[in-house]
Amino acid sequence: MEELLTLQETVEDKSFTYQPTCFDEYLGQSEVKTKLQVYVQASTLRQEPLDHLLLFGPPGLGKTTLAKVMAKELNVNLKITSAPILERSGDLVAILTSIAPREILFIDEIHRLPKPVEEILYSAMENFCVDVIVGQGAGAKSIRLPLNPFTLIGATTKTALLSGPLQTRFGIVERLEFYEPEDLAEIVRQNADFFKIPILPEAALAIGKRARGTPRIVKRLLRRVRDFAQVYKHACIDIEVVNHAMKFLNIDEDGLTKLDRQVLTHIIKDFDGGPVGIETLAAMTGEDRDTLEDFCEPFLIRQGLIQKTSRGRQVPHKKILYLRRRLLGENPEIQDSMF
Ligand SMILES: Nc1ncnc2c1ncn2[C@@H]1O[C@H](COP(=O)(O)OP(=O)(O)OP(=O)(O)O)[C@@H](O)[C@H]1O
Ligand SMILES: [Mg+2]
Repeated sequence: MEELLTLQETVEDKSFTYQPTCFDEYLGQSEVKTKLQVYVQASTLRQEPLDHLLLFGPPGLGKTTLAKVMAKELNVNLKITSAPILERSGDLVAILTSIAPREILFIDEIHRLPKPVEEILYSAMENFCVDVIVGQGAGAKSIRLPLNPFTLIGATTKTALLSGPLQTRFGIVERLEFYEPEDLAEIVRQNADFFKIPILPEAALAIGKRARGTPRIVKRLLRRVRDFAQVYKHACIDIEVVNHAMKFLNIDEDGLTKLDRQVLTHIIKDFDGGPVGIETLAAMTGEDRDTLEDFCEPFLIRQGLIQKTSRGRQVPHKKILYLRRRLLGENPEIQDSMF
């Protein structure tokens, strides 16, 4: 059973989209999954709580989903909360003291815990107890409250911001990797089955290739493609429907969005390949720096289309001709040979 302590779940987590509930339904991430399956089995055999687990990785890769799967597989209750709403130590103490043996507490965005709240976690994680102050002034005293042995699952997109003392208290630390297009195609098929809409394998793969290695994005793209299929009365999602929808969404066959293409175009056209500062790119595209850094850059860097240098962002030399051809429609070899 799962208990929601916050309202921070997004609309896609509701029952009208498919949600994996066991390891078999959680596709891809085979290395992490294999390890976690062993730990889950061992903890079940010993009837002990699973060691504390830190999951990190970019948004939408399945950290929250994995925590839910783990709880189901361990057959224990899951309490979900998020660091930004745990403002005072008392908020966390109230949750910790209500945890039953072997239950899982999931703290999302754990790098955002205020320091005093984080310090409560240290003894809770290590010794299953918390120290609280009761009374005020001269009469105030510290009392130690025992807790039921539990498992903390922390999720973060930014490990660099997680303090050392907190990080070392996790017995298991796993990083989720971006998904391969084939794994994303599987997720597309899984969701298409849930929607009861037939899809051809090459259409599923075409969607998978455009999803920036991210399940959340692949699910969103499928929902849009499904809209097109239904409105234009296609009984089955084929490559034609996918291409039609992608053209409409302005996503090219490499998965580049309009914003990605704008960023790349500015670097190659206005700055001769760079380097150019992120603030300048933000001003030129009219986007804020965070969007460029969190959404655009990780994908462009992974695709080898930009590099981060101390002087700004640049397009690697070997990609400049390719991008000039792709984005500016130039035929650089001919132009180069003319001068
Ligand atoms: N391995 C997977 N197999 C199938 N579906 C997945 C998988 N991973 C994630 N999903 C789906 O992708 C969506 C995003 O996953 P989730 O919310 O767990 O990501 P997250 O890492 O917690 O993101 P955030 O950092 O934004 O909190 C969910 O709808 C989930 O069902
Ligand atoms: Mg999440």
